[in-house]
Amino acid sequence: MDELRKNSSAFLLTYVLLFNTRLSSAIDTINTSTTIRDGEALVSPNGVFKLGFFNLSNSTNRYVGIWYNKITVPTYVWVANRESPLTDTSGVLTVTLLNGTNGILVLLNGTNGTVWSSASTTTPNPTAQLLDSGNLIVKDADDGDNFLWQSFDYPCDTLFAGIGLGRNYVTGVETYLSSWKSNDDPAKGEYSSHVDPTGYPQMLVKKGGEIMYRIGPWNGIRWSGAPDTINDPTYGGSLQITRDEMRYSLRAVAGLVLSKSTLTPNGVGVRSKWNDRANSWTTYSNIPADNCDDYALCGPHGICNVGTSPSCGCLNRFVPRDPESWDGMDWSGGCVRRTALSCDGDKFFKYSGIKLPDARNTSNNNERRSLTECQVDCSRDCSCVAYAQLNISGDGSGCLFYHADLIDIRTMASAGQDLYIRMAASEVEGVVGDGSNRGRTRTIVIASVTSLAFACLILGYVFCRNTQKKNLSMSQGMFSATHVKDAELPFFSLSTVLKATDNFSDKNKLGEGGFGPVYMGVLEEGHEIAVKRLSKTSMQGVNELRNEVTLISKLQHRNLVRTLGFCAQGDEYMLIYEYMPNYSLDITLFDQEKSRLLDWQKRFNIISGIAKGLLYLHQDSRLRIIHRDLKTSNILLDADMIPKISDFGLARSFGGNQTEAQTRRVVGTYGYMSPEYAMDGVFSVKSDVFSFGVLVLEIVSGNRNRGFLLKDQNLNLLGHAWSLYKEDSLRKLVDPCLDEAFDLGQVERAIHVALLCVQNSPDDRPRMSSVVFMLGNEVALPQAKQPGFFTERDMAIDHSSDRSNPTASHNQLTITWTQGR
Ligand SMILES: *[C@@H]1O[C@H](CO)[C@@H](O)[C@H](O)[C@H]1NC(C)=O
Ligand SMILES: *[C@@H]1O[C@H](CO)[C@@H](O)[C@H](O)[C@H]1NC(C)=O
Ligand SMILES: *[C@@H]1O[C@H](CO)[C@@H](O)[C@H](O)[C@H]1NC(C)=O
Ligand SMILES: *[C@@H]1O[C@H](CO)[C@@H](O)[C@H](O)[C@H]1NC(C)=O
Ligand SMILES: *[C@@H]1O[C@H](CO)[C@@H](O)[C@H](O)[C@H]1NC(C)=O
Ligand SMILES: *[C@@H]1O[C@H](CO)[C@@H](O)[C@H](O)[C@H]1NC(C)=O
Ligand SMILES: *[C@@H]1O[C@H](CO)[C@@H](O)[C@H](O)[C@H]1NC(C)=O
Ligand SMILES: *[C@@H]1O[C@H](CO)[C@@H](O)[C@H](O)[C@H]1NC(C)=O
Ligand SMILES: *[C@@H]1O[C@H](CO)[C@@H](O)[C@H](O)[C@H]1NC(C)=O
Ligand SMILES: *[C@@H]1O[C@H](CO)[C@@H](O)[C@H](O)[C@H]1NC(C)=O
Ligand SMILES: *[C@@H]1O[C@H](CO)[C@@H](O)[C@H](O)[C@H]1NC(C)=O
Ligand SMILES: *[C@@H]1O[C@H](CO)[C@@H](O)[C@H](O)[C@H]1NC(C)=O
Repeated sequence: MDELRKNSSAFLLTYVLLFNTRLSSAIDTINTSTTIRDGEALVSPNGVFKLGFFNLSNSTNRYVGIWYNKITVPTYVWVANRESPLTDTSGVLTVTLLNGTNGILVLLNGTNGTVWSSASTTTPNPTAQLLDSGNLIVKDADDGDNFLWQSFDYPCDTLFAGIGLGRNYVTGVETYLSSWKSNDDPAKGEYSSHVDPTGYPQMLVKKGGEIMYRIGPWNGIRWSGAPDTINDPTYGGSLQITRDEMRYSLRAVAGLVLSKSTLTPNGVGVRSKWNDRANSWTTYSNIPADNCDDYALCGPHGICNVGTSPSCGCLNRFVPRDPESWDGMDWSGGCVRRTALSCDGDKFFKYSGIKLPDARNTSNNNERRSLTECQVDCSRDCSCVAYAQLNISGDGSGCLFYHADLIDIRTMASAGQDLYIRMAASEVEGVVGDGSNRGRTRTIVIASVTSLAFACLILGYVFCRNTQKKNLSMSQGMFSATHVKDAELPFFSLSTVLKATDNFSDKNKLGEGGFGPVYMGVLEEGHEIAVKRLSKTSMQGVNELRNEVTLISKLQHRNLVRTLGFCAQGDEYMLIYEYMPNYSLDITLFDQEKSRLLDWQKRFNIISGIAKGLLYLHQDSRLRIIHRDLKTSNILLDADMIPKISDFGLARSFGGNQTEAQTRRVVGTYGYMSPEYAMDGVFSVKSDVFSFGVLVLEIVSGNRNRGFLLKDQNLNLLGHAWSLYKEDSLRKLVDPCLDEAFDLGQVERAIHVALLCVQNSPDDRPRMSSVVFMLGNEVALPQAKQPGFFTERDMAIDHSSDRSNPTASHNQLTITWTQGR
């Protein structure tokens, strides 16, 4: 803090006192005889920052905050009364003496009630000043160097040069960022960003008490796992560790390059730089950047690699702790050693190019130890399971020792580090040091229906083959009481379902896929349901399946179809869902008449809703599900046209037990598949992102990607959108039936985001968290690169493989992929 104060006092020295005039142009200081009323402002001496009253969007709530004075995009870096807005424009900011000796900065409302105040400080002549650093300080007018209170000690959601995040060990006070509740409400939201000093310092983004993302530990130059920043003078920060405090701050930038880090209401850490020419903030980096940034995604001793599918593997010579859950894509249990450590005679195995594991259970030795000496030290201590260089600036700068499970490791495309893991000697012999052991190779098969329109009318495809004739006799339909008891998912008896659907009468049938029908039903109490009738083939056992479905049913989100219950009998299963009166999106969107009912606002809400639902599946839900077959027919619409993603998680339930013999082909739904998935069978959250991009373009244009063909151009919808993007005429893509009634900026943003989503390389595509953010905020978007599959010829690759495979049929397509290698 001392250094900070010295820096800031430099501003004080250059500050020239203006004479007493509250309303004169720019003042930077108030004292007990001056005030700032709504409409007035403080401007820092060189005009860099401004402090005043503002409101957000449609709300009349007034806040006192600090923003950049020289840019036109309102960017509030600090809010005083974030928790207690003024309700009108009668607010007054002033400095008062409480009882003759204690000065305080207060915000009063129209009835002189205190809405907000700084801490009171013993001082006879208090003043408050806005500095060019953006710091609002309270000090005694006669004691220029001593800040009694400063806004930098109470940051909100924005970090910029001068603010130090961390902990004062003397006072025990922690300084951290906390997100806004929403873009309209600066009150403390769910997310916070901390520099955690337990073990060795690292940066943690938390939602409530739960860690969402982590970068670090500090490696002497930057956070391990963060981009390499050493060569960019406008980027990066520094960490100071002394006996009294631990403090991380962003590098100060000379000149007028503004640079900041913001924790958004969605918990995304966005590092951005002001771009004067574009008159907007340009994002350099996000945390999370991809799904491997999800904290501990792969569990203890797991390693995450965005380039593989699935992303999680075990560290070399480790095996999944619970192979069954691991194969079911629940990696939280992580991996265990194949061979236990013996302490004596253990060796070390080097991993390169990774983000170091969670450093909360580490010790370190800050002396000038070399790497070899670190190894000796670690070998001697049986509790030391791994070591790394403490400061990557050079050999001989100390060691970091791990003493617990190694958690939250990922591979890094660049700027990765080395970690030396202790292994039983027998495991190290003969190992050619490389990355990870991806565990058992296995194959999962999903079948899907592609027949359009009615096949997917209400709940899309089902995953299992409907080969056996159904037997719906009542006696078989009764599930035993014990099953009912332990199932958390409500059990529907067959008789209930039969009654609701008029014995599965044809008039209740909503659709018929290759694998079974979907029925509409009405329960006795009048509740409408949809019943998907699946039949079991060589899949899981009843209990496993039910457990799985129970898990899925716990996923609840406004934009996911809700599973209401479950019914099982013999080889037959039924899933009971909430009924969606407006069917699936394709029915409305691709119908010439009905599509008129979808105005732009509705379309945009549908796009946002799908994005949020998908984000939840990818990231926020406990199961972290990749949908794999996102398309308009899997988006259902409720009575209020709120979109609900359906068929999520079924891949998990019905994918378990196929053999590689089935087929090596990879086919999802034409037109929605990402190139890497279609060609190599590799899929990840980024394949869903691709499908989402296709969906958005379809929603904006009212055209199907597949089947769309411009006359003399060999382009599909993606190719068409891409060429309009290059011509800068995106509005031509918009569905003509919208009759020009739309917010062009929003439309263009949606198309631009969609183009980012369908970029050829999965690494270039944003994660859904960024997508949600980019759709909802007027941030500058990166330039899109060429999409994958943008001509019909590209897609023809699939057609040919379709024909060449004798097992393929129109309504049954099989997706096969091999895990790992
Ligand atoms: C407040 O500041 C003004 C100059 O801005 C000065 O004239 C006045 O005396 C100050 N009042 C007190 C109480 O210090
Ligand atoms: C603030 O409130 C006014 C009226 O109460 C409104 O017109 C304006 O759009 C609001 N938002 C901003 C950013 O000023
Ligand atoms: C502001 O109000 C308009 C009209 O009522 C509404 O369409 C818009 O969504 C509102 N904006 C926010 C951010 O609430
Ligand atoms: C003024 O109030 C503070 C508490 O607000 C108290 O600690 C201090 O002793 C008081 N001073 C006088 C002179 O009353
Ligand atoms: C608030 O305080 C100011 C200054 O002390 C006074 O002039 C004003 O009348 C007060 N207003 C109310 C509503 O009490
Ligand atoms: C002013 O603030 C006081 C205390 O916070 C509160 O009781 C009062 O209702 C507020 N008055 C107005 C007009 O908001
Ligand atoms: C890391 O090493 C460099 C160069 O030796 C040094 O300048 C820096 O202060 C060190 N950082 C820490 C955190 O020890
Ligand atoms: C740290 O060690 C304690 C005690 O062994 C353990 O409970 C905790 O989970 C560990 N935390 C991490 C992040 O490894
Ligand atoms: C259906 O189930 C009943 C009762 O268990 C049985 O008698 C009958 O043979 C079954 N029918 C078929 C076609 O399997
Ligand atoms: C359904 O079938 C049962 C048994 O076959 C029969 O008793 C009942 O009347 C049928 N209900 C309807 C609505 O057709
Ligand atoms: C899974 O497949 C194996 C071999 O193909 C078979 O023996 C086993 O019964 C199957 N399990 C289930 C639950 O269908
Ligand atoms: C959606 O459903 C509601 C209620 O059933 C209905 O009033 C509305 O017209 C439907 N909208 C469309 C676009 O079909």
